[in-house]
Amino acid sequence: MTQRKTRILTGITTSGTPHLGNYVGAIRPAVAASRMAGMESFYFLADFHALVKVQDPARVQRSTLEIAAAWLACGLDPGKVWFYRQSDIPEIPELTWLLTCVAGKGLLNRAHAYKAAVDRNRGESLDDDAGITAGLFMYPVLMAADILLFNADKVPVGRDQVQHIEMARDFGQRFNHLYGEPVGKQYFRLPEAVIEAHVATLPGLDGRKMSKSYDNTIPLFAPKATLKKLIASIVTDSKAPGEAKDADASHVFQLYQAFASAAETDAMRREFERGIGWGDAKQQLFERIDAEVAPLRERYESLMAEPQKIEAQLRDGAERLRAQHATPLLRELRAAVGLRSLDGPMIGDMSGSAGIKFSVSGTLSSKSLPVFKQYRESDGRFHFKLFDGDGKLLLESAGHDSAREAGQLIARLKQVGGADLRHVESIGVHLGEVLLGHLAEGVAMDEVAAVLETFAEDAA
Ligand code: TRP
Repeated sequence: MTQRKTRILTGITTSGTPHLGNYVGAIRPAVAASRMAGMESFYFLADFHALVKVQDPARVQRSTLEIAAAWLACGLDPGKVWFYRQSDIPEIPELTWLLTCVAGKGLLNRAHAYKAAVDRNRGESLDDDAGITAGLFMYPVLMAADILLFNADKVPVGRDQVQHIEMARDFGQRFNHLYGEPVGKQYFRLPEAVIEAHVATLPGLDGRKMSKSYDNTIPLFAPKATLKKLIASIVTDSKAPGEAKDADASHVFQLYQAFASAAETDAMRREFERGIGWGDAKQQLFERIDAEVAPLRERYESLMAEPQKIEAQLRDGAERLRAQHATPLLRELRAAVGLRSLDGPMIGDMSGSAGIKFSVSGTLSSKSLPVFKQYRESDGRFHFKLFDGDGKLLLESAGHDSAREAGQLIARLKQVGGADLRHVESIGVHLGEVLLGHLAEGVAMDEVAAVLETFAEDAA
């Protein structure tokens, strides 16, 4: 087995146009991090989340395209990281429901965004929940599904999102406890929030944090002339050229710092002390930003001219990601909660089928064992299936002429365990010269071998 890489995951809500604050605070550090070895990165367009805030379909579509193009233009390589669109992964809303059914409503009542909306209503003497959608209320559960579905270890987010990561841990833990503990499983890893302390929060045109909700942003890919005009409109004090200026109190300086090297920043600090005029300072700021952004802007424009390419890349990412991670996990989770094939073993049944023992308190006391189930197909031949302890189908046998023949093969498998099995993609799983059958979809050979070992150990 290869060592599992640390998984880093983050979502970008597709509700606006990428601005310099997004670039410095999220895109640039994320693209740099995605190039580090030993990491498996997941970056996705959180378009389901966008619907909570934006009910203008054209804006959701436009923003999704702009944000995808921006990340690609800034150097994200979809061949090296998972880059996808949330709404292309139906397992996300499916997991959202499973988590909804373990999420405490009381915990959701305490979510900052929901509480703030309630407080606004109270301030205006309205009903607590006036104008609040269930979407806003459920936002943290959807976000938990995004994270838990891929068993992310680290989630880089802004401070305002930390509470959501804690909630994801809470829901994951509850699910593990409720459905995992009885069968000795940890379905979900518990994610950690990563707050990038050294990443600057950029001031916007008015000096408050640059944010689309304050309408004070500088679009990342504004045309040169617009960029220049916007920078010229940044608020400053009224000190005249020649008067010494306090660099640390200046938004112009803070913006400059976010794009400049340490040496350039020091030089600018001295210019401030010597009383650089605001016009000059802003001109230098414009030149510094444009030097970094211009080549990205060019790539962005050519990407925006071919949206079908972006669409294809996103779809491809989602498709591969579903096959590799989402679909197999959901299959396991469905079985865990009892959304199962009716002809499989009834794990968790108090009658104690499938080798499950219950302690006096009614909780399971031992991990459930894998089972073989024999059956006869309509063609008259005899088959068997192997299920793991959670009722997940692992292997489907080839047909045999008699029940006895199938039974003997099962007995032999139980005896020898998984060690002598061979799997060849096109021809199936073999034990010596005998064709056993085929792996179930999404099942790895290692899994089958490990399960068969438990029989061999039991017999020993
Ligand atoms: N809620 C996040 C934000 O507004 C976006 C987001 C959605 C997200 N799902 C996520 C971030 C999962 C990290 C992980 O910034």
